Amino acid sequence: MKICFATNNTKKIQEVKAALGDSFDIVSLEDIGCMEELPETGDTLDHNAFQKARYVFEKYGVDCFADDTGLEVEALDGAPGVYSGRFAGEPRSDERNVSLLLEKLNGQSNRRARFRTVIALILKGKEHSFEGIADGEIISERTGTGGFGYDPVFRPWGYTKTFAEISMQEKNTISHRGKAVKSLIEFLK
Ligand code: IMP
Repeated sequence: MKICFATNNTKKIQEVKAALGDSFDIVSLEDIGCMEELPETGDTLDHNAFQKARYVFEKYGVDCFADDTGLEVEALDGAPGVYSGRFAGEPRSDERNVSLLLEKLNGQSNRRARFRTVIALILKGKEHSFEGIADGEIISERTGTGGFGYDPVFRPWGYTKTFAEISMQEKNTISHRGKAVKSLIEFLK
């Protein structure tokens, strides 16, 4: 089944392809000729995920899904949340986002945080949504070189390594996006 994952983030596409296996032909925005930036103006993950999926479905007429992820830090009242990508302002920079997060948590003993992903699917014109959560904590120094975004400072509960120190396959089994994708796959199958 051909389905567009409404993103051009190659790491995310790789993660989802690895989780989905060969039964689905996952194509990117570039693959369907969508070169423009997708609208993402809401103040919730749900809003943004559906906004992106509806845009692609209405303009390109393909079955598609879009995700939106936020890092919700307990001591920061759930921030950066839906603004995780632009936490340190534009242009978006993982490097500056992580530095700002570490600065804001400096001296803070409560380091609890979670990643939350919402996937909005539009299949044959019908809308569905799926959620995945990964609980963990923000450590005080970047550790590891894999992954992307906040991975070097996020250590999932029960683990001694950050998301940036484990393989993509292992991350997929415990991550927010991996869990949301699992629900998506169970639905698609
Ligand atoms: P998006 O909604 O997936 O674009 O994610 C928003 C922000 O959260 C971006 O800054 C990403 O770097 C970050 N983010 C999303 N997924 C992950 C992840 O799996 N690990 C670390 N950071 C992530």
